[in-house]
Amino acid sequence: MAVESVSAPAPLLSVRDLHVRFPTERGTVNAVNGVSFDLYEGRTLAIVGESGSGKSVTAKTLMNLLPRTAHVSGEVTYDGQDVRALAAAGTKHFFGVQMTMVFQDPMTSLNPVKKVGEQIAETLRYHLGRSRSDALEEAEHLLDQVGIPEPSRRVSQYPHELSGGLRQRVVIAMALACQPRLLIADEPTTAVDVTVQKHLLDLLDRLRRDRGMSMILITHDLGVAHGRADDVAVMYAGRLVETADARTLFFDMRHPYTEALLRSIPRIEDPVHHRLDPIPGRPPELVDPPDACAFAPRCIYARADCLDGVPELSGLVGLHRFACLHPTGTERGEAALATNRTAGVTAAGLSLPQEAPGSG
Ligand SMILES: Nc1ncnc2c1ncn2[C@@H]1O[C@H](COP(=O)(O)OP(=O)(O)OP(=O)(O)O)[C@@H](O)[C@H]1O
Ligand code: SF4
Ligand SMILES: [Mg+2]
Repeated sequence: MAVESVSAPAPLLSVRDLHVRFPTERGTVNAVNGVSFDLYEGRTLAIVGESGSGKSVTAKTLMNLLPRTAHVSGEVTYDGQDVRALAAAGTKHFFGVQMTMVFQDPMTSLNPVKKVGEQIAETLRYHLGRSRSDALEEAEHLLDQVGIPEPSRRVSQYPHELSGGLRQRVVIAMALACQPRLLIADEPTTAVDVTVQKHLLDLLDRLRRDRGMSMILITHDLGVAHGRADDVAVMYAGRLVETADARTLFFDMRHPYTEALLRSIPRIEDPVHHRLDPIPGRPPELVDPPDACAFAPRCIYARADCLDGVPELSGLVGLHRFACLHPTGTERGEAALATNRTAGVTAAGLSLPQEAPGSG
């Protein structure tokens, strides 16, 4: 009997050992340091981390939007094609068609002196060669799809005539115009209030599912990733420190930074969101980073070996990976924490309150 071989599907997007550096007057900014991940068709990957962790730089690298001064190395493959080679060759109708991006601030993507319908139509005319009248009709249809009321009136309005939430919907419509297979949404909601934020995120999620798109959802809030992402990559100081499927990441995390991020989520809707404990301290400078775990000064588990080089991310891409010597939820982690609590201070000098007797 013939044995049928079932080969695993190839990822839609594959990133390997990505490094991005910016030469500046202060020295070289090591913005992205050895990032590797895969994204499969139809899935959502959330990239989560505090401000300055390298999320937007990673996204802009994928979209070929970095300034010329940036030094980039590593491989980015989209559907078997070398993305950096496509960019270097000036390939048209790839960025903005196959892969598109929604930015943090909608005004960076909108032209203030052009009617919103015209702006969407221009994308369709440039990339897909549509006629002006077809493109305008399609623009109106897209505004309707992203939930903009009275789309026939809105097409002829200028960005400043719309609220922040509507403007962000226009940007989403523009990003979806050419039916991309991959949408990168970079904190698409920071410019709007919490209720509008939730509506926009739900809209993106619905449109993604309807169209079978893949999505990279970039956020500083793990709560945003919860329920929307299939996989989560946690970024700190330009490195991935933990990657896993969403369930593992939320309920069986290993990295102390992931644990600290979870505790800092300001929502109550869900059992994992029951506390609000901001992470003390700040992320490190990316110029001359120390040859140590970058999280050590803020980590309640830190021991002397954490200051002896940068911990490697364990395991293979696609598996649960984490970069920590005393992982939370393990005996090593528990022992490190107990030692630090007894001493009242970690090996990196962070003061810890001692547990009250009987509180364990
Ligand atoms: N063009 C540039 N020149 C020099 N440094 C840069 C440049 N762009 C980004 N950086 C630096 O790279 C680091 C990562 O920036 P990035 O914008 O990726 O952070 P982020 O994770 O997106 O943060 P936020 O949540 O605030 O958007 C930061 O230290 C930033 O100052
Ligand atoms: S235990 Fe050590 S290696 Fe792990 S995050 Fe804390 S400082 Fe880094
Ligand atoms: Mg950013």
